[in-house]
Amino acid sequence: MAFIDTIKERARADKKTIVLPESMDKRTYEAAVKIRDEGIANLIIIGTPEEIAKHGAGFDLSGITIVNPLDDPNQQKYIDKFVELRGAKGVTPESAKAKMLEDYMHYACLMCKCGDADGAVSGACHSTGNTILPALQLLRTKPGISSVSGFFLMEVPDCELGEGGLFVFADCAVNPNLNSESLAEIAGLSAESFEAFVGKKAKVAMLSFSTMGSAKHPDVDKVANAVKIARERFPGIDVDGELQLDAALVGKVAELKAPDSPVAGQANTLVFPSLEAGNIGYKLVQRLAKAGAYGPVLQGLSMPVNDLSRGCYADDIVGVVAMTAVQAQAQK
Ligand code: ACO
Repeated sequence: MAFIDTIKERARADKKTIVLPESMDKRTYEAAVKIRDEGIANLIIIGTPEEIAKHGAGFDLSGITIVNPLDDPNQQKYIDKFVELRGAKGVTPESAKAKMLEDYMHYACLMCKCGDADGAVSGACHSTGNTILPALQLLRTKPGISSVSGFFLMEVPDCELGEGGLFVFADCAVNPNLNSESLAEIAGLSAESFEAFVGKKAKVAMLSFSTMGSAKHPDVDKVANAVKIARERFPGIDVDGELQLDAALVGKVAELKAPDSPVAGQANTLVFPSLEAGNIGYKLVQRLAKAGAYGPVLQGLSMPVNDLSRGCYADDIVGVVAMTAVQAQAQK
């Protein structure tokens, strides 16, 4: 069974409520109808009657909850929560209301925070920054986690490497400035994500242009230090590095370059040394190997919120909603 079908099956087994704030995009309705028909999640779409009539015309939305933010009985509760969370940063009841009504992603995050939804998915017509900033500010990180990062679940066809062609790649989406501490945290979160989605033990490779000291450079030291920190902070995970990509993935190269490594040659979870490397790396594999790239899925947030690519199709939204629902199941 394809990876995404197993995720949909898991989502169906314990249905969660996912909010879609992009009522201004037709793909939201196309996806919503499929999600409802396939029983993947209970859905909430945020939009005024005018927005729904304009962009959702022709779609049968029965069974999908529509929340009109202009006359929602919960509106005051969300304003109060917004001020409670961000009052110290200058948010007032007036500015909270204005922000929620101008940008429904804020509304969606407040619905999650107040327990009226289990997760949110947005980004079909908003940038990654616009999508995730409200989540960072309103939902914040899980206890003990300092930074949210973004991974892709890569499904490489006809591939023996990783877990039968399945990999987690991180961070591909969020943090432009990575130091050893943040790389170590990404290693711990990515191991957890791999195991939650793939159901197999993660083997985490901390990638570099050097393998076990073959090159000397501060960027190599950054990754080698991250391995030490990750082992101390997450003693249960299999993590090693620094490793070049071929040593991480290919047994014969691992035998030559890192023969004693418990990860080299078997890695299924790749932590890239920078956001450039991660973002370029996943797109290379997606485009050249024709891999499925599911994500970016955010890890480390207190509740699941996920981003879409602006080039996404309705089916991509269906997949990300299913992954968000599975993350929500793990939170309970
Ligand atoms: N984890 C947790 N909280 C964070 C993080 C993080 N990684 N980054 C920022 N924050 C919090 C800050 O603590 C701050 O909180 P506060 O308002 O309570 O003080 C708030 O978010 C804003 O912090 P800034 O540093 O001002 O955030 P910035 O304006 O830099 O925006 C963002 C953060 C949106 C994540 C930004 O770093 C960004 O745009 N990253 C790149 C996203 C991107 O373009 N990715 C590539 C495309 S994705 C793709 O190709 C699929």
